Amino acid sequence: MNKKTLLSGIQPTGKPHIGNYFGMMQQLVALQDQYQTYGMIVDYHALTTVNDARALKENTYDVVLDLLGAGLDPKKVILFKQSDVPEHTELTWIFNCLVTMPWLSRAHAFKDKTEKGLEANVGLFDYPVLMAADILMYDTQMVPVGKDQKQHVEMAREVATKFNNTFGETFALPQELIKEEVAIVPGIDGQKMSKSYNNTIPLFGTDEEITKAVMGIVTDSSGELPTNVYAIHKLFRSETELKKLYEEKKGKYKDLKEALLTDILAFVTPMRERRAYYAAHPRKVQKILKDGAKRARKQAQIKMEEVRKAVGLN
Ligand code: ADP
Ligand code: TRP
Repeated sequence: MNKKTLLSGIQPTGKPHIGNYFGMMQQLVALQDQYQTYGMIVDYHALTTVNDARALKENTYDVVLDLLGAGLDPKKVILFKQSDVPEHTELTWIFNCLVTMPWLSRAHAFKDKTEKGLEANVGLFDYPVLMAADILMYDTQMVPVGKDQKQHVEMAREVATKFNNTFGETFALPQELIKEEVAIVPGIDGQKMSKSYNNTIPLFGTDEEITKAVMGIVTDSSGELPTNVYAIHKLFRSETELKKLYEEKKGKYKDLKEALLTDILAFVTPMRERRAYYAAHPRKVQKILKDGAKRARKQAQIKMEEVRKAVGLN
């Protein structure tokens, strides 16, 4: 009964790619038996960049299907939509009154976006505080994420420490879970794979989309090892097997890309089938989300009682 808590979130801002899968989803799936696991679609976070109601709604539903397809078992995992638990925003406000502007200004994600010329809204600036609320609300111990989220989890830990020191022991200190081999999955151009860089292999893409992405992997003409193909292939096969294959097919980039394509398609087929099952049963999906929201909210309400009391709002 006393399982430790594992929690992660994903923004409904587009189609997940294999970087999202290996960086985060796979860990959630692998650990769902061992931990009390929370899988959250962070739609409040998405509002910092999306202002199209229909797109947000559709993407949110799609990401639920993606997580189910990836293998989250709704019987084990509390799968829910962040905005179904509005307590997250209340806790964010309370944390907002504890942290400082210079401290928040240090966040890389915000700095990167503003350096690219994006005019940041207040929500984007406050993004790490909302994420801290997501994590601390459930006394989370483990947060599986890709490396780009490391700083955000560290910030959540700092918020917990500051709150505990100010108001008394209330929050557990969370730890990021980052698997070294997949901390930064490279995209088809060798840079970090990201929805915003147009260099992804979509996890639930059609055969055509996946083929186009794989055939488009950038290679040089040295005739040696196609580094970018190999780096992605490593996710799907052991290095011993790959060394043999890449030796045999030295210089034959097209054959190697085709071998990678075959491996990716074999890997995603069972996930696609599971996703298709849920897509064909929308009422089941609605029920999963409703149950998830109910269970998460119950926990959140208990935690907020404690928090309100600690700060003097009760
Ligand atoms: P994106 O950068 O494509 O917009 P998100 O910010 O939605 O991706 O990330 C969702 C989760 O997937 C996070 O835990 C993030 O760290 C992880 N992730 C995203 N891209 C990668 C990658 N290239 N390699 C490893 N993990 C990743
Ligand atoms: N910031 C994370 C991302 O972009 C998403 C996220 C929001 C999250 N709340 C979270 C991840 C809580 C882990 C735990 O990927």
